[in-house]
Amino acid sequence: MKNKNEDYIKAYQIDSENSKNYYQKFLNQKSEQQKFLEEILGEDDKSNFKICDIACGSGTLTHHLLQKFPNADFFLADINDTALTLAKENLDTKRNIEFLNSSVFALDYKSETFDRVFCWQTLLALDKPQDALNELIRICKPGGKVILSSLFNIHHDVDIYTSFIDHTLASSKENIYMQYNTISAFTLKKWLDGKAASHKLYEFIPKVDFKNSSTNPRGTGSFTLDTPDKKIQVTGGMLMNWAILEITK
Ligand SMILES: C[S@@+](CC[C@H](N)C(=O)[O-])C[C@H]1O[C@@H](n2cnc3c(N)ncnc32)[C@H](O)[C@@H]1O
Repeated sequence: MKNKNEDYIKAYQIDSENSKNYYQKFLNQKSEQQKFLEEILGEDDKSNFKICDIACGSGTLTHHLLQKFPNADFFLADINDTALTLAKENLDTKRNIEFLNSSVFALDYKSETFDRVFCWQTLLALDKPQDALNELIRICKPGGKVILSSLFNIHHDVDIYTSFIDHTLASSKENIYMQYNTISAFTLKKWLDGKAASHKLYEFIPKVDFKNSSTNPRGTGSFTLDTPDKKIQVTGGMLMNWAILEITK
């Protein structure tokens, strides 16, 4: 079983059509998580911030954040050139936006550079999430915030590292396994001890039903399931405990 970060990048390239659909999906409509983030962020922030979007994909998050932070400069990084090209096309605005091919494990930015560090829906898929988190904190200014969405176990002190293969995707022929890792609030607290002034997890509970988003319903498309107390997202048979993590450095 292989599930290294290089394989993950390779899978994105092999499944390029599928990846493109995923990347572009929430450009012209806000995802439920985007709406939730904007509730957490509150009023537009007019500060002259430096904001980065790490593992930016096609720039969907920044596309929406540009309006929330009308005076900020944006810095986008991803390790996939195809994603960066899409991001450049999607964010063709008069705003100051820089793009960089750089890995979240060794970001080519100086320490304490950014007022806000975003990293959307990526930590769950990385083989060394703690290393990635440390790097995001490193580039954040003291007093600044790291804000990311990933899978977190808020109700149980249990970490879940899941390797999976989606046989409906071309990458499965190369025996490439992907990951969805769920980090407990318990472990997160240990990871952040001494590195952050405070942190908060906002549990994401879908308010509306998601229709199966896969072109092939037997693959890793997502839908919601009604449980007695909440809706929960199911992706390829896995429960997705999404939360937004806000770290104040
Ligand atoms: C699930 S996508 C999320 C994209 C985007 N943040 C969004 O929400 O639409 C994960 C992204 O992480 C990128 N990625 C994977 N490993 C990376 C690494 N080591 N460094 C930087 N980016 C990475 C992939 O190329 C992909 O664009």
